[in-house]
Amino acid sequence: MIAIYPGTFDPPTNGHLDLIQRGSAIFEELVVAILRNSDKVPLFSMSERIDMLRECTKQYKNVRIDCFEGLLVEYAAKQNAGAVLRGIRAVSDYEYELQMAWMNRKLDPRLETVFMMPAEAYSYLSSRLVREIMHLGGKVSGLVPPLIEQRMREKIKGDPTSIPGKTPRRKNRS
Ligand code: PNS
Repeated sequence: MIAIYPGTFDPPTNGHLDLIQRGSAIFEELVVAILRNSDKVPLFSMSERIDMLRECTKQYKNVRIDCFEGLLVEYAAKQNAGAVLRGIRAVSDYEYELQMAWMNRKLDPRLETVFMMPAEAYSYLSSRLVREIMHLGGKVSGLVPPLIEQRMREKIKGDPTSIPGKTPRRKNRS
C-alpha cells in the first residue's frame, strides 16, 4: 500500500524523520507530501524543504518527496494512496488529529488514517519550537539532522532574530 505522510516540515525535525523511518518500514511506498500553504510565509521555501527532505531520506528507497496544494484526499487519490500517516506525540495532538482524520474519512471513506508514535525522545519536539529556539539563539543539535541545523545557520547568517520566532501556536501543532 502507498501511504502519504503530509505536513508543513518547516523545518523537518528528527521527529519527522523518525516517523518516516517507521512508515517506510510498514508501507510499500511512503510519499512525504509538503503542503503548499499560501496563508503563511515559511522559513524555508518549498524547493529548500524538498531538497532537505530528499537528502535526509535518501537511504530509504521506498520514500518519495513531493508537494501538494488543495485537499489532501484529492492528492492521495491521484497518488493511488490507501493511507495517510500522521504522528501523535501526546494526548494534546489527538483531538485535532482525530477531527482531521474523521473529516478526511467523510471526504473519502477509502482513505485510512494511520497514527504512529515517534520515539519518546521526540515527543516534545515540533518545528515551531525549533524555529523559536533558533530565533532566541539556542542550540538545535539533536532536534534536527545536522544538515538542517547547518541550513538554519546559513539562513540566519549570524542574526538569529531573522528567523521568525513567535509564530502563533497553531492548533495543528507543526
Ligand atoms: O504539519 P502540519 O501543519 O500539521 O500538517 C497539516 C496538514 C498538511 C496535514 C493539513 O493541513 C492538510 O492536510 N492540509 C490540506 C488541506 C486539507 O485537505 N484540509 C482538510 C483536512 S481535514
